[in-house]
Amino acid sequence: MQHFLSLTEHSAQDILHLLDLALTIKQDFKMGSGKPLLQGKTLAMVFQKPSLRTRVSFDMAMIQLGGQALYLSPQEIQLGKRESVADVSRVLSRYVDGIMARVFAHDDILELAKYASVPVINGLSDLNHPCQGLADLLTIVEHNGSVQGQRIVFIGDGNNVARTLMFGAALLGADFVAASPEAYVLADNDIKLARQYAESSGGKVTLIGDPMKAVKGANVIYTDTWTSMGQEMEAEERRKSFARYQVNESLVSLSAKDCIVMHCLPAHRGEELTDQVADGPNSVIFDQAENRLHAQKAILVALMG
Ligand code: CP
Ligand code: NVA
Repeated sequence: MQHFLSLTEHSAQDILHLLDLALTIKQDFKMGSGKPLLQGKTLAMVFQKPSLRTRVSFDMAMIQLGGQALYLSPQEIQLGKRESVADVSRVLSRYVDGIMARVFAHDDILELAKYASVPVINGLSDLNHPCQGLADLLTIVEHNGSVQGQRIVFIGDGNNVARTLMFGAALLGADFVAASPEAYVLADNDIKLARQYAESSGGKVTLIGDPMKAVKGANVIYTDTWTSMGQEMEAEERRKSFARYQVNESLVSLSAKDCIVMHCLPAHRGEELTDQVADGPNSVIFDQAENRLHAQKAILVALMG
């Protein structure tokens, strides 16, 4: 593995290997016998957008593995404004052992990777969120035993998180369903590609407009904010379009028994997810947040160890 930019750049075997590694690292850490697998290594963390989980989990992952992380705020680097993305990448490569970046345009991540002589990790772009995706797959494995054969239903915006979940689910043989308002569905070419993955993994990818129909038999219900970072101007219009797509107790009651409810967070409680569900018995949202730490340790070790 050279970089970690999106799940689709890796085979199902690679992803399963990362999940195994994450489970081992998590177990060792919980037993108090975590190993300093990245002793003396450094990670630059470049942010164009705000973050709680990505920033803190990468920072703690590096510390707990014996290395160090350096937070670079949007004001500091001004990626592509103060200097070109290519030059930022070339310069950082001379100082650190790895670069994690959260950007708007996915092309900026690709550009960073193109000019870096160290591994680059995508900490979220407008197109996808592979670190979240890996942590989500880990959470599904832990709660439901495996990803294969699970009916994973995404309710809401066909955004970066939905897209990543679809590819992860399709690669690992899940029955993936997305329910979105017509103007916010996942792109046709992405669905085509995911269906190709599903064909070889024994999975399935379906779009169902009606959330009540979509959640029938769901083992996993997943939702995310209706307004992603950078879309704040559209918030009001989106609130109206997505009103029918709230994950609430009556929607969850239509799913399979023991269905888990997931959200990458931050949640807009009362919009895409109610308090009752977020804090209810089906919710695994804080396990997901914790698993960012363990999944990312696996990515860091695979790339920089
Ligand atoms: N889920 C996630 O990436 O959270 P942050 O935006 O807080 O990093
Ligand atoms: N879709 C959200 C995810 C935040 C972690 C966003 O891009 O803002």
